[in-house]
Amino acid sequence: MTLIIIITILLLLSIYYFICFIRRRRRMRFYIRNIPNPPPLPIIGNVLDFVGSTEHLWNHFRKLGHDYYPIYKVIGTFDDMVNIRHPDDAEVLLSSPKNITKSVIYEFLHDWFGTGLLTSTGHKWIHRRRVLTPAFHFNVLREFADTLDEEGRRMVHDLQLEDGAVTVDLVSFVTKYTLNAICETAMGTSLSNMENSSDNFLKRYRKAIHEAGQTLIHRLLRPWLHPRLTFSLSPSGRILRKCLKIVRGFSKKIIKERQKYHDDTNGIHLEYFNENNEDSEVIYLRSSKKKLAMLDLLIAAKKNGHIDDDGILEEVDTFMFEGHDTTAMGLCFTLLLLAEHNDIQREAEV
Ligand code: HEM
Repeated sequence: MTLIIIITILLLLSIYYFICFIRRRRRMRFYIRNIPNPPPLPIIGNVLDFVGSTEHLWNHFRKLGHDYYPIYKVIGTFDDMVNIRHPDDAEVLLSSPKNITKSVIYEFLHDWFGTGLLTSTGHKWIHRRRVLTPAFHFNVLREFADTLDEEGRRMVHDLQLEDGAVTVDLVSFVTKYTLNAICETAMGTSLSNMENSSDNFLKRYRKAIHEAGQTLIHRLLRPWLHPRLTFSLSPSGRILRKCLKIVRGFSKKIIKERQKYHDDTNGIHLEYFNENNEDSEVIYLRSSKKKLAMLDLLIAAKKNGHIDDDGILEEVDTFMFEGHDTTAMGLCFTLLLLAEHNDIQREAEV
């Protein structure tokens, strides 16, 4: 008898959630009904558009972007996706104070970044934005120009040492330098000191952060891995879990060392982050003798009760990835274009 009651309740709940899902999807499809899309198949929609090698998908979605410019949608089994390309459309979205909740695919990042600045929404996002914004004031960024320049020169020097041979994995090559840059500028930690350590921790970290990023792309391009359950049971779900242990261990080490530095100096440098001083420019100008990093700002915010240890870890994980992967991709595309356009490359050499 109890079993029958449980099965009935489960059945009713399933029907309820299914009806909610259908209604939500119908409402969503009504809003985006006028946006064009490639011809869909019954039930699975455009899911087959996602099948193929990374190179094929790159070309295929670039073609769709061109063919349907400036906007198109792809029909999924569960959710549809709208792609925009025109800067005016991007501006409307990115400057909206109302539409601050990111797409559901950002939930793939929760295992890694928790709900840090990139993945949070609502009050949490507003609060974190307030805490972190001073770290990105123009005057602060200017402070770090030398570090970025140095890292860029090191990259060019090492690329020249490659001596004309083809660099097969450009992404791994470039990320070495962008990781150094974000670590030094945002975390106040120099990776070059760790480069020759015998435990190979840094090497394992570089490999793990790269592989973790790859699993996210792998999941993104395979709609059947979008549900949490299928992904966590898949080989890439297992790889991600393994990589995140190493990545998180590294973030914790950086935070611990920086915290120790402030403990050893009796928090004297943190005094620059005056809680009552809302003017970020003033804060950083006063701290200009001692370069203070984003992580220092977070440690000061913890002292003032604005963030806890888990929050700091979320932001360090977020910024370590966001701060190096985006710039690495930008550099890779720039190098790709320079390789394709030899005439421009020669002009730059002069
Ligand atoms: C060429 C380099 C970069 C590009 C193209 C880029 C692109 C973007 C875009 C389009 C967004 C808004 C979309 C979204 O919220 O998901 C964004 C947000 C974000 N980016 Fe970047 N980014 C770059 C560099 C960086 C760097 C160097 C950092 C860290 C130092 C960073 C950290 C973040 C964070 C934390 C957010 C979320 C901001 C928020 O929601 O308030 N990005 N980025």
